[in-house]
Amino acid sequence: MPKFIIEGGHELSGSISVSGAKNAALKIIPASLLSEQTITIKNLPKIEDIDRSLEIITDLGGLVLPTPDGCTINTKDLTKNIISSDLANKLRASIMFVGPLLARTGTASFPHPGGCVIGAGTRPIDLFLEGFVAMGADIKWKNGIYHLTAKKLKACQYFFTTVSVTGTESLMMTAVLAEGTSVLKNCALEPEIVALADYLNSQGARINGAGTPTMTIEGVEAIGAGEFTVMPDRIEAGTFAIMAATTNSPLTINNFRAEHLESLLAVLAKVGVKFELATNSLKIISADNLQAYSIKTHEYPGFPTDLQSPYTVLMTQAQGSSIVHETIYDRRLLFTDMLTQMGANIIMCDPHRVVVSGPTPLTGHKLTSPDLRAGISMVIAGLIAKGTTEIDNIYQIDRGYENIDERLRQLGAKITRLV
Ligand code: EPZ
Repeated sequence: MPKFIIEGGHELSGSISVSGAKNAALKIIPASLLSEQTITIKNLPKIEDIDRSLEIITDLGGLVLPTPDGCTINTKDLTKNIISSDLANKLRASIMFVGPLLARTGTASFPHPGGCVIGAGTRPIDLFLEGFVAMGADIKWKNGIYHLTAKKLKACQYFFTTVSVTGTESLMMTAVLAEGTSVLKNCALEPEIVALADYLNSQGARINGAGTPTMTIEGVEAIGAGEFTVMPDRIEAGTFAIMAATTNSPLTINNFRAEHLESLLAVLAKVGVKFELATNSLKIISADNLQAYSIKTHEYPGFPTDLQSPYTVLMTQAQGSSIVHETIYDRRLLFTDMLTQMGANIIMCDPHRVVVSGPTPLTGHKLTSPDLRAGISMVIAGLIAKGTTEIDNIYQIDRGYENIDERLRQLGAKITRLV
């Protein structure tokens, strides 16, 4: 079982560049199903989730050709309408293929998506299914597989009872080829959604209101395909900023889009992290005398749930007590048990709230990465812990952080990948 071995206590220095955004790329790849023309995707991150997503395209009969910084995809000759269980079990975002497949071919079959342990049970998909039914799809469930059919999708009016990023993106994409004008309300506002809508509109779609709570999508017969450059990954950028603050290292983070991370930057300033912003980069100057500051995760533009676990590690090194309130997912705070084993002073008040008191020295430990964000948080904890930290199940980290050990070694980290 591959693992990381980290020797803590080494200061980091230098600069690191942010890769393309996983959570943008995982939507543009399924969106290629909406057109019979060839899409060119640039700045694609080289991570496991992207490999799984491209494998689904190939499995459906699509043609994927690698290019120096991404790939081209043509899905003119699809041969299947079912998402393979083997691939869907590894990738929660496999569900993003269902809507475009249904819109393009009239049928789509898939298992309940796996791939991510956070969230209630097996991560609900009720909003997706309700949306497809609202567009006129018929759903049957047999032997663990959902079978959707729709002769011609019709526009819908749909209110998201829970703000859902992929739910918003899934129905937005599906409505592009539905008959009539759909109105989606209580939509997620993430920048990745705006980028996807802008691309689709550049290919003939008619989407209005992306990035606001209400979107209208006027269905069209067909759309073209062109070039999509994946934006920098704001979560990876935020992770590196928190890593620099936690290790008190003067790091420069390139491809840093401050406008996508205003909530994190506002919190880091209150914690006492000194940093400088330039046009496309962030430089951490110092992070002495960190002060505890409570956060509550919130849909964009609030504090991202994907930065909650790295931030919790930072709070173990801050003076005083802070409450970390995870409002989006169940189970996303369970990893704090491993921080406690390293010496952190963390009390779980309920499944959604912990109290972190610091600063406390951490000691190296044997850990298992339950999900990618908790996994990178353990790497951060290992970087400051006394002694050696061993992290297994690092596939979860490789899902979302490209070549992370090599990139951290270049900053001076003592991290080894044992395969
Ligand atoms: C996206 O997941 C991201 N993944 C997540 O990043 C991110 O944490 C999340 O948005 C929130 O920002 C991708 O974009 C691939 P949600 P998503 O639907 O869309 C509930 C990472 O680490 N819900 O916005 O799956 C759900 O249980 C990943 O990169 C329903 O109840 O999350 C959660 O409580 C982790 N029914 C809430 O909505 C549904 O049908 C928000 O989840 C769908 C979701």
